[in-house]
Amino acid sequence: MLLPPIAVLFATRALADTVTLPVAVSPPASASTPVPGDFQSFSIEFAFFPDFAGNYSHPNHLTNTLLANLRNFTGAEQIIRIGGNTQDHVVYIASQKQGIMNTWDYTYNLDQPKNSTIGPAFWESLNVLQDTKYIFGLNFYKNDSDFLANLQYEVNQTLLRLPSDRLHLFELGNENDYGANSGFRPRNWTQFDYVDEWIFRTRHVQTPQRSLRFFAPSFCCFNITAPTFFSPWTVWNESYRYDRDGWIEEVSQHGYISSTSRNPTLQADSLRNIDEPYLCRPSRPATRRAEHLPPAARTTVHNRRDEQRLGTGLARGIRRVWLCVVAGRLLSVHRVAGATPYHRGSVILTWYTDCLEHHENPPPPRHATDTASWLPIPVNGTGPLVKPPYYGNIFVAKFLGWSGPQISNIDLGSDYYSAYAAYEGGKLARLAILNLHQYDPGMNGTQRPQTSFVLPNLPDFTAAKVEVLTAPGASSNSSITVAGLSYDYQLGQGRGVQVAATGTTIESRNGSFTVDVAASEAVIVSFLQ
Ligand SMILES: *[C@@H]1O[C@H](CO)[C@@H](O)[C@H](O)[C@H]1NC(C)=O
Ligand SMILES: *[C@@H]1O[C@H](CO)[C@@H](O)[C@H](O)[C@H]1NC(C)=O
Ligand SMILES: *[C@@H]1O[C@H](CO)[C@@H](O)[C@H](O)[C@H]1NC(C)=O
Ligand SMILES: *[C@@H]1O[C@H](CO)[C@@H](O)[C@H](O)[C@H]1NC(C)=O
Ligand SMILES: *[C@@H]1O[C@H](CO)[C@@H](O)[C@H](O)[C@H]1NC(C)=O
Ligand SMILES: *[C@@H]1O[C@H](CO)[C@@H](O)[C@H](O)[C@H]1NC(C)=O
Ligand SMILES: *[C@@H]1O[C@H](CO)[C@@H](O)[C@H](O)[C@H]1NC(C)=O
Ligand SMILES: *[C@@H]1O[C@H](CO)[C@@H](O)[C@H](O)[C@H]1NC(C)=O
Ligand SMILES: *[C@@H]1O[C@H](CO)[C@@H](O)[C@H](O)[C@H]1NC(C)=O
Ligand SMILES: *[C@@H]1O[C@H](CO)[C@@H](O)[C@H](O)[C@H]1NC(C)=O
Ligand SMILES: *[C@@H]1O[C@H](CO)[C@@H](O)[C@H](O)[C@H]1NC(C)=O
Ligand SMILES: *[C@@H]1O[C@H](CO)[C@@H](O)[C@H](O)[C@H]1NC(C)=O
Repeated sequence: MLLPPIAVLFATRALADTVTLPVAVSPPASASTPVPGDFQSFSIEFAFFPDFAGNYSHPNHLTNTLLANLRNFTGAEQIIRIGGNTQDHVVYIASQKQGIMNTWDYTYNLDQPKNSTIGPAFWESLNVLQDTKYIFGLNFYKNDSDFLANLQYEVNQTLLRLPSDRLHLFELGNENDYGANSGFRPRNWTQFDYVDEWIFRTRHVQTPQRSLRFFAPSFCCFNITAPTFFSPWTVWNESYRYDRDGWIEEVSQHGYISSTSRNPTLQADSLRNIDEPYLCRPSRPATRRAEHLPPAARTTVHNRRDEQRLGTGLARGIRRVWLCVVAGRLLSVHRVAGATPYHRGSVILTWYTDCLEHHENPPPPRHATDTASWLPIPVNGTGPLVKPPYYGNIFVAKFLGWSGPQISNIDLGSDYYSAYAAYEGGKLARLAILNLHQYDPGMNGTQRPQTSFVLPNLPDFTAAKVEVLTAPGASSNSSITVAGLSYDYQLGQGRGVQVAATGTTIESRNGSFTVDVAASEAVIVSFLQ
């Protein structure tokens, strides 16, 4: 139940800071191109996809509800990528009755099964989710005598069992630039060998009936040098001719946020720097091919557990907003879900934590579930659970809305404050303002500092609605709300339930607005005519 800690009842707001927030009424030249409704999409680990989606006899209502909530704000179908490490260890068995059977070996991996077998019922899980499209992850590593038949089964079953308009793309292999390092290819395996294998495999699954398109290369890293050189920059060049068949529709490159030496903490300090290497570099690819990969990604480390450092609870929800919108401010970002790829010439910035990991029964002794947006099934007595990052997803969906707005970053020159403007039809529609100062009642006492943002020179508007993403504190894992709605499983099984005021209306004074945002809160300001 939603019982806020005692401290919250007595928390008082105290003015700590006043900041002038200059907002342009029409999109500045640096504003993004329109951000499509499927911008916020999801990546789900292959082996756990049936846990998220369910099947015909056991549909997962929570996942369906949570995705529907988000679509209600954006009007767009999400693209779900079913992939990750486990996609490269999937074997199709025509006679298998169950959709999926995962084989665990804790000496091999505590978080993921060693291999998975799927039968025709696997595709029930794709069909049982409503109003989504898929990127279906195929097995690249299998290299015994059955590998081609296995791939052909994966492809032909997908074409047979999924309505064609729900198949967005195929993805052949996940992070295979790491193939030699992870022991799935010999040490002398080169980028040339990779391209060769990829071309051979895609040509042998291509069909005359429907010309298949791919999401690739989904490399884990930037410029691996050992044991051999792999690079998202060079794989496309004339030596390799990776896209020689022209079947690569979207370029996918994974990027792990905290992979710089400056790991983010709960507060914003070092976070502001993370955008610099690859998240926020404004590059606007003019054509759809990959010559335009981000020029300066210096980062190499890629442990998704690093994301734990993004804080806990509400702070993690706010991080999700920050990262999503930061991505939106990149002129070339087209979609967010799990790496740093391209979408018809645009970078798709995704990160790998949306709803990837959880453990099966019996659960292994380690937990890596904190950064997921929700836990779809009970695991070791916990769950189903809607997790703090989901509130960030809601906030972003609300901020983006239905119309495909242009997004502009308003640089406040601060590590603690972020602001973004959304423009619809060339006119200012909304603002998102984030106060990244950490506030936790247990740590900071009952005075919750707030900052007044003064928005000058907006004579076209007389009033605005203010909706808040908040919780008792930055570390809160419960009692989180957006516009007064809780999506907690215990309350409405993932449907929004009104537990606090929807928002407030503020009026302009002499053409300027003042918006108060408390520490560890974010608000959406929607301008009314
Ligand atoms: C969709 O959002 C509207 C408000 O914008 C709300 O009235 C409606 O109940 C929502 N529907 C669902 C299914 O959440
Ligand atoms: C459907 O899901 C339930 C619950 O996870 C599982 O017990 C059952 O075996 C699944 N059915 C198929 C055909 O996979
Ligand atoms: C899956 O892994 C288990 C344990 O290593 C092994 O016995 C089994 O043969 C593997 N199955 C497939 C289909 O690779
Ligand atoms: C699917 O692929 C398998 C393996 O190549 C093949 O035996 C089977 O005939 C194919 N089925 C269809 C419907 O194309
Ligand atoms: C084939 O796959 C195995 C297991 O993943 C790996 O050890 C081996 O190096 C691979 N061989 C080749 C030639 O790719
Ligand atoms: C790579 O190593 C394998 C043994 O693992 C060997 O059979 C093969 O000839 C080597 N390839 C090259 C190009 O050196
Ligand atoms: C392609 O990149 C590789 C490095 O991976 C380089 O050695 C090669 O010269 C490049 N080829 C062309 C045609 O630029
Ligand atoms: C990766 O290597 C390519 C080719 O050597 C180079 O053009 C590119 O700048 C490098 N990128 C990084 C981030 O080092
Ligand atoms: C599972 O739950 C039991 C009882 O609460 C607990 O002792 C055990 O540590 C939990 N295991 C994991 C992996 O969390
Ligand atoms: C709350 O306490 C933490 C730890 O001392 C500190 O880093 C943070 O700045 C404090 N927050 C506020 C809003 O004072
Ligand atoms: C929220 O959960 C995280 C682990 O996910 C934990 O570290 C943190 O202490 C929890 N916050 C509170 C207030 O219990
Ligand atoms: C109203 O705004 C104008 C320009 O922004 C300023 O010159 C004037 O002093 C303001 N009036 C009041 C009463 O604040």
